[in-house]
Amino acid sequence: MILINTKQLLKAARAGRYAVPAFNIHNLETIQVVVETAAELKSPVILAATPGTVKYAGPEYLLAMAQAASKRCQIPIALHLDHFEAPQRLKELMAMGYPSVMIDASHSPLAENIATVKDIVAFARQYDVSVEAELGRLGGQEDDLVVDEKDAFLTDPAEAEEFVSQTGVDSLAVAIGTAHGLYKAEPKLDFQRLEAINQRLDTPLVLHGASGVPEADVKKTITLGITKVNIATELKIAFADGLKEYLAANPGANDPRHYMPPGMQQMQQVVADKIRMCGSVGKAGGCT
Ligand code: 13P
Repeated sequence: MILINTKQLLKAARAGRYAVPAFNIHNLETIQVVVETAAELKSPVILAATPGTVKYAGPEYLLAMAQAASKRCQIPIALHLDHFEAPQRLKELMAMGYPSVMIDASHSPLAENIATVKDIVAFARQYDVSVEAELGRLGGQEDDLVVDEKDAFLTDPAEAEEFVSQTGVDSLAVAIGTAHGLYKAEPKLDFQRLEAINQRLDTPLVLHGASGVPEADVKKTITLGITKVNIATELKIAFADGLKEYLAANPGANDPRHYMPPGMQQMQQVVADKIRMCGSVGKAGGCT
């Protein structure tokens, strides 16, 4: 299959009342684990890359690896740019062939956020690229993006309606009490707010900061309109744990073909669990 944008995937998910998991990938090994596990479970999947990842891996390598993965596996795979704040950089990457993007102008006042997103949506249409934007602001840390708790705020349902109608955005990331990274205490999600947003919109809604959120809570958000669930931190921890355990037990090890697989095995378990949580097992036949 070819690499696709997230538009069709999320539309099918909304109609089928499940979510498509979006895993933040960083290198060949994370892409392999995410894609091969999704293929085994016949789940559509989204590979997400932050600005830090694009810089780390190199945009050409990253795109080529995702394309190779999508050729190998018979499931719909989207490649998505996550939390990009620089419109010009996003435009360059769309022109290069990246099929799905998030423009994050959630730090700006509403009118400015709308203007930035509108500009990206207009550009994206030329390339059939799907666009996600964020309204409200999540706290926590995602790569180099750090948002202090005092600067975080939840999405207002009426503003969400205005935002979507003015920007024409394809999916909307909402702030309902989750945060990026690990939680100090169990997060309290504002389900009523999510329900109110969902009642006003037909647009697929996105849950950021899903690592560490109890499975039952994520499942409930999916019944209330969430169709894309973002997972980064839990995957990073699993990878690092596998490597650390192996290297502690084998201090003389120096071959990546030996010390990477234990990390990959631990990630595989996380990916499978999250796919099951999203209810996307067996949904790969839904889109082409
Ligand atoms: P976590 O790191 O909390 O899983 O958040 C991932 C995310 O929302 C990526 O955009």
